[in-house]
Amino acid sequence: MTISSAPGKVYLFGEHAVVYGEPAVPCAIERRATVTVERRSDDHIRVEARDLSLDGFTVEYTGDTEYRPDVDVPTALVDAAMGYVDAAVEQARDAADMPDAGFDIIVESDIPLGAGLGSSAAVVVAGIDAATRELNTPLDCREVARRAYNAEYDVQDGQASRADTFCSAMGGVVYVEGDECRRMTAPNLPFVIGFDGGAGDTGELVAGVRRLRSEYDFAAKTVGSIGEIVRQGETLLQNANPETTPGQALLTELGQFMDFDHGLLEALGVSSRTLDNMVWAAREAGAYGAKLTGAGGGGCIVALDETSETETALEYTAECHDVFRAELDRIGVRVEE
Ligand code: PMV
Repeated sequence: MTISSAPGKVYLFGEHAVVYGEPAVPCAIERRATVTVERRSDDHIRVEARDLSLDGFTVEYTGDTEYRPDVDVPTALVDAAMGYVDAAVEQARDAADMPDAGFDIIVESDIPLGAGLGSSAAVVVAGIDAATRELNTPLDCREVARRAYNAEYDVQDGQASRADTFCSAMGGVVYVEGDECRRMTAPNLPFVIGFDGGAGDTGELVAGVRRLRSEYDFAAKTVGSIGEIVRQGETLLQNANPETTPGQALLTELGQFMDFDHGLLEALGVSSRTLDNMVWAAREAGAYGAKLTGAGGGGCIVALDETSETETALEYTAECHDVFRAELDRIGVRVEE
């Protein structure tokens, strides 16, 4: 039996624009998906998923034979999660050149599903790592990231960037631009996350931006401007001392860039009233900046604030279902004892 875990992430900057070759800076957070894999003697796959949301619910899903949600959860989300597990298994079988390997798999996660925190990437990364180890073919982190990207690419019909999977496999703050993926040095950032309890439809949201971008020059320029924010944000982070707590000047400027990024994402039609209300609650509480994270449409926002003001304000915001602080997680995929 092998257990691996991998972190979720927030986008400091660059979601959506990254789909068109612009850069993005995702940051791994201390919320993990854990995948337990045990080799079977036959070629079947049995998957059990537990606690796949912040609220915690249990579903049991057994490959193509059984599907039993215990409580009322969005079936589409659970199905989607299972699709990612299947794709991870395919990658592991391929890496080990054992196309008939069967597994019992348990997926546990404290990353809300489809909410912009990279839940699917974390499941795929941890799943590939655990399954390849179980087949005595351990991969290095970069190879896990590469295969996890392939898996997401398959499941999402080609609508995937390398950002989520690379960040989850490597941990820390990463820079992704096209095929270029690298870790960055960066100080600890005081992330506060607000969750509206919902989820956006990534495929639909990506398609909407694609349409706008191809139809209107100003929309294409908006996507390009997001890329500019990312480049300048990267310079700010690279020049900061990773060993010390970030100073107010750095946080103020990063926050301003986040606010700007959110405005452009809003213009591209991927925000929502609940996300906007949470963003404004954070700003009014004195956060350095706030923006949606991930595909948008619903799900999570990320704010920068080292005080407890933003958390308190979000707790009293009607649209906010849950709020939590998330430390930067410098460790990517890892084996659990
Ligand atoms: O919502 P998430 O965490 O799956 O992020 C989606 C980010 C996009 O840039 C919209 C799509 C992608 O694959 O990069």
